[in-house]
Amino acid sequence: MVKCRNVFIRLAYKGILKPFFFRRDPEDVHDAMTRVGVMLGAHAFTRTITQWKFGYSDPLLQQRIWDITFPNPIGLAAGFDKDAELTSIIPRVGFGFEEIGSITGLPCAGNPKPRLWRLPKSQGLVVWYGLKNKGSKFLSEKLRGKKFEFPIGTSIAMTNCSANLDTTTAISDYHMAFEAFTTIGDYYTINISCPNVTGGQPFIEPEKLDLLLTDLDTIATTKPICIKLSPDISFDELDRILVVAEKHRVHGIICGNLTKNKDNKRIIDSNIPEHGGISGKPTEELSNALISYIYKSKKDRFVIIGCGGVFSAEDAYKKIRSGASLVQLITGIIFEGPQVVSEINCGLTDLLRCDGFSSISEAIGVDSR
Ligand SMILES: Cc1cc2nc3c(=O)[nH]c(=O)nc-3n(C[C@H](O)[C@H](O)[C@H](O)COP(=O)(O)O)c2cc1C
Repeated sequence: MVKCRNVFIRLAYKGILKPFFFRRDPEDVHDAMTRVGVMLGAHAFTRTITQWKFGYSDPLLQQRIWDITFPNPIGLAAGFDKDAELTSIIPRVGFGFEEIGSITGLPCAGNPKPRLWRLPKSQGLVVWYGLKNKGSKFLSEKLRGKKFEFPIGTSIAMTNCSANLDTTTAISDYHMAFEAFTTIGDYYTINISCPNVTGGQPFIEPEKLDLLLTDLDTIATTKPICIKLSPDISFDELDRILVVAEKHRVHGIICGNLTKNKDNKRIIDSNIPEHGGISGKPTEELSNALISYIYKSKKDRFVIIGCGGVFSAEDAYKKIRSGASLVQLITGIIFEGPQVVSEINCGLTDLLRCDGFSSISEAIGVDSR
């Protein structure tokens, strides 16, 4: 029944909606879809209809991680719901969790438009938003006291401005946003890997990361903390980052963000914009390599969240078998349609059962042992 429903929605998306959307400006489509999501999330009736169209659940997919119950392992990655407007509807589209943001200390208009492009042949996007968001004060006040239907991660980044070229100022900026969210959401992500901000990615340098995490250690919170890595780092750089992470209050690693490396064999479109980082299929193997490496070297020390190029149940399963406990996506939903979340969860239950697993935790890392 669910599979038939998904086939029907897939055909409608790929045959009608996707060609219509793909002829329009990607940011305009994203903004329009956000407005639709806000409307659908505002009323119990439209939430129920959305659930009926896109929902899927199976106890096999449920996990308890960091004392938080994740109904399924598929989450919406940071960057889709920058200002936390969709938290009422995203669980009804079938996601098991969501990361809001990235949220910065101060409000940020982002880079000038255009700042989002599609790579139809490469199945990716070029993203140059530059951390557009309404800022930590506004967003924390808006969300304070709100009850969420599923786990929420808060992605924190530094404001995209020249003042943050100074390390101490940049750390204060992260501190401001981090402190604003101590009682909101279920876990934090510290985004040290946005490719689109003034000054680049200073906190992938171990000494600077150490200073940042030492500062954040002083903020009282019981929430788990993840750091989000660039998929472009070498294993040597990764080793040094993990040494620092182990010294501090870091519970999870997200692998990973957008790739800046345009010399990637999965990029087959021509005329790639000069600015921006790339999502989707060009990030998939880079992300899988990081997941495997971290799982092999650190086992259970960190919960790994796999992110990059997940378009199908097989893609998500590969990340889980490589060592990821949870998986996130954005680009897959844009290329495959909103039913892809349910398709992935439904397909995962088939794959787990077919391999004789009675829970996701049994499958985590089996290919990296
Ligand atoms: C439109 C867009 C905006 C993004 N903005 C952010 C962001 O604000 N913070 C962040 O950590 N990652 C951001 N990302 C990166 C995604 O969270 C994810 O790491 C990356 O797109 C790879 O996953 P995917 O291939 O499933 O899209 C953004 C990605 C896209 C496509």
